[in-house]
Amino acid sequence: MTNGDGFGWMRIVVVLGLLNCFYSYFLRYGPVFHWQHKMFGLYAQPLVGVYGTTEPGYENLKTIMHKGLKNGEDLGSQFTAYVDGNLVADIAGGFTTTHYKTRYRPYHLQQVFSCSKFVTSTVFLHLANTNRINLSDPISKHWPEFSHGNKSHVTIQHLLQHRSGVAFLDKERIPTPEDLLNLDLLASKIAGQPHNFNGTQVSAYHAVTRGWYLNEIARRVTGLTVREIMYTEIMPLLNKNHPDSPFEFHYGIPDGPADLVESLGVRVAPLDSASYIYKIFHAIAPNSFLSLFGHLKVDPALINAYFFKDTESSKSLIGSGPDFKGREAEFPWSYNDAVLRRSQSPSFNVLTNSRSLAWLAEVVRRSAEGGEAAMLAKEVYGFGYKENRVTEVDRVLLGNITFTQCGMGVFRDGFGPSKAGAGVEFVGWTGAGGSVVFFSEEFGISLSFTPNFMEFQAVGDQRSWRLIEELVRVVKEKRSKKSIETGEKHKDEDSGRDEL
Ligand SMILES: *[C@@H]1O[C@H](CO)[C@@H](O)[C@H](O)[C@H]1NC(C)=O
Ligand SMILES: *[C@@H]1O[C@H](CO)[C@@H](O)[C@H](O)[C@H]1NC(C)=O
Ligand SMILES: *[C@@H]1O[C@H](CO)[C@@H](O)[C@H](O)[C@H]1NC(C)=O
Ligand SMILES: *[C@@H]1O[C@H](CO)[C@@H](O)[C@H](O)[C@H]1NC(C)=O
Repeated sequence: MTNGDGFGWMRIVVVLGLLNCFYSYFLRYGPVFHWQHKMFGLYAQPLVGVYGTTEPGYENLKTIMHKGLKNGEDLGSQFTAYVDGNLVADIAGGFTTTHYKTRYRPYHLQQVFSCSKFVTSTVFLHLANTNRINLSDPISKHWPEFSHGNKSHVTIQHLLQHRSGVAFLDKERIPTPEDLLNLDLLASKIAGQPHNFNGTQVSAYHAVTRGWYLNEIARRVTGLTVREIMYTEIMPLLNKNHPDSPFEFHYGIPDGPADLVESLGVRVAPLDSASYIYKIFHAIAPNSFLSLFGHLKVDPALINAYFFKDTESSKSLIGSGPDFKGREAEFPWSYNDAVLRRSQSPSFNVLTNSRSLAWLAEVVRRSAEGGEAAMLAKEVYGFGYKENRVTEVDRVLLGNITFTQCGMGVFRDGFGPSKAGAGVEFVGWTGAGGSVVFFSEEFGISLSFTPNFMEFQAVGDQRSWRLIEELVRVVKEKRSKKSIETGEKHKDEDSGRDEL
């Protein structure tokens, strides 16, 4: 009898123990920590710090980044923001890997996935700005082979805006990492791709293909690759007044010069992510359950991309390449591949950091007003960012997305499931795993967040949302204080006038 009772208690203890393990692994801590750490407190990470500068009023941004690092949502990341032309935050924290040996610093570089598209759109607006390309041209004007398969009417602008019908590639056209090193071969492989929608213009996010097509257009028009244009024209332009710590955008690691290759080899932080089982759990758990623990539902397009191979989401986001041919194929570790790193994939393999991305966003933002600090002529900025924005349900991303003509997203109601920054119009884009680059014309904000640990959300994630929320809060607070002050000043002036 006592035996039986003991057995009963044992069972309760075991069940409670398992529940606690389950809770610790999936819900209590973010995905960064090792399971041994989550469940048994082993292999704990050392104390993490957040370094860098914040202007008065913006100090909380450091605390917020620290929170993500401490609870296992963030491994290493950077955040940079400008407000009204002034740098208000430039911070970095955490570690480069889960070995916790090297601190993550502002000079580390990160593959930023689709934030690369912001950089590449800027390269194309720069080509228009210098009168070397007309973005309204049909692509076939410069690249006749592209006209095959109902694509003769497709323009460069359609391609930039994800409306050119090459969101995904037929199986035999999908490049391997090696194919990407041979740009002539790559061009011949992708040129004849039939239009995905029989020539009908629809919004279907070109997750990986856009950059390969754009690179060939750049070569045909200018004789230079996007990488070469970046190194010979854009980086010199951006760094005119910043010779000491240059802003950097590398389309992969080039084959030379040797000192650059070595420097990039040391500074590019490897990509890491949650375990497959952690992702599956967060994909299938109901929203209402997850929200009890402060987690948000994964975007349906990402769930499709990961788990349902025949969907358009999967064909665009994952299925169109690169084809790793049986080497490490799981995202994001597959993207640490050394051959792929040497390639140029202007949709997804820019290596940069938050300070460079935020600065690029800032010089684009300044183009809205024109003037000395602007990168683009007002008309070119207008063409890329203001004219003919299109809102429709994107076939790949499965939601109503507003795209500018240069293919950047417009967000007015927060990002994905988050209401961070709602009410403020942000324009920019986001990369798989969590990088973001946005600016707001109205609020004079430019910002970027770049992490090395890929979270499982579509438009940024809780790490960047919290930072954006706080940034917008401070900007709004400062603005309303200012308007009260100027209001009082006006009152004083008025009363002064009254006295006269
Ligand atoms: C670009 O081409 C379009 C259509 O052909 C034309 O209307 C426009 O004036 C051109 N723009 C420039 C800057 O040449
Ligand atoms: C072009 O589109 C038409 C329908 O608009 C379709 O019948 C035809 O098969 C398409 N051709 C190619 C090569 O995709
Ligand atoms: C394209 O046209 C062909 C032939 O007319 C048709 O079988 C196919 O379903 C169409 N595809 C799309 C995506 O509309
Ligand atoms: C997209 O927006 C339209 C118009 O506001 C709305 O009717 C539709 O339900 C939305 N679709 C999705 C998938 O959100």
